[in-house]
Amino acid sequence: MKEKLNALAAESAAAIAAAGSLDELESLRVRFLGKKGELTAILKMMGRLSPEERPVMGQLANSVRADLESALEAKKAELGEKALEEKMKAEALDVTLPGKHIETGHKHPMYIALDELKDIFIGMGFTVLDGPEVELAEYNFDKLNAPEGHPSRDWSDTFYFDKDSRVMLRSQTSPMQVRAMETMPLPIRIVAPGRVYRKDEVDATHSPMFHQVEGMVIDRHITMADLKGTLNAMVRRLYGENTKTRFRPHHFPFTEPSCEMDVQCHKCGGVGCPTCKGEGWIELLGAGMIHPRVLEMSGIDPEVYSGWAFGIGLERTAMRRFKIADLRLIFENDLRFLTQF
Ligand code: PHE
Repeated sequence: MKEKLNALAAESAAAIAAAGSLDELESLRVRFLGKKGELTAILKMMGRLSPEERPVMGQLANSVRADLESALEAKKAELGEKALEEKMKAEALDVTLPGKHIETGHKHPMYIALDELKDIFIGMGFTVLDGPEVELAEYNFDKLNAPEGHPSRDWSDTFYFDKDSRVMLRSQTSPMQVRAMETMPLPIRIVAPGRVYRKDEVDATHSPMFHQVEGMVIDRHITMADLKGTLNAMVRRLYGENTKTRFRPHHFPFTEPSCEMDVQCHKCGGVGCPTCKGEGWIELLGAGMIHPRVLEMSGIDPEVYSGWAFGIGLERTAMRRFKIADLRLIFENDLRFLTQF
């Protein structure tokens, strides 16, 4: 039995030293120390020994087991370290390699134009307002002095939700004038950008959905001069210091007097060219002094207060700003187009 134990000790020490992996080591542990292992098998023969021999052999067996266990433990630590080292080598990261290019998006050209506009007006002390696209005809028309029967309320131009024509997709941002007058303390200085809807066929200059920015000022002693001064300041910021403007008489139900503002054509400088269709001027926006009846309907005394308003088309502003020829490009989301700005 002594020989068997010594042979086991030698054999197991050699096998453990030669083990190349943690799996291999585990199977050696089972082979030598397991319940059905070789040491257990030898110990089963203890019963056949004499009472004198038993403690001696027991001691030897215990020391063989202890050696085996510590050899296994030491090898396990060694192999574990080696495995970790290999893993680190395999997963090594070369921080000097060039990184993967991450495509970052950027602002849509129309929003670049919008943000420019907002900046200009915020700089002049205006508040930016947001409002509903599903609007009451009361706000889109009645309170803007376009009563029942007014041609702008026609079914052929307007998206209504009900047969009584009370709820609609707003056809202009001007209802924000009324919403501001009803909710804000005087004096008021606001711009209100947003989507508007009209029953137009899609072509190079029309879309049933487009964007406007409404602007409005109400205070004591506000005149047309304030309107012209503010709009000229805006145009100079948008199109350059020397940009010329002109104001033509026009009609809107909610302003009196009303006008349209043109800018001198940036292409030809006013001589006339294809861009301005030979006119020398390009129409930019509608504006005017708020009609006294509109002020009154929203509870503002027109004897004390006066104001002006304007509405500018955002797509057109962006098209001019970036020289985009076709409105449809703005909505098509084609990256070949969008990444140019
Ligand atoms: N709402 C008008 C339009 O859509 C523009 C406008 C706004 C005119 C404010 C005057 C004052 O054409």
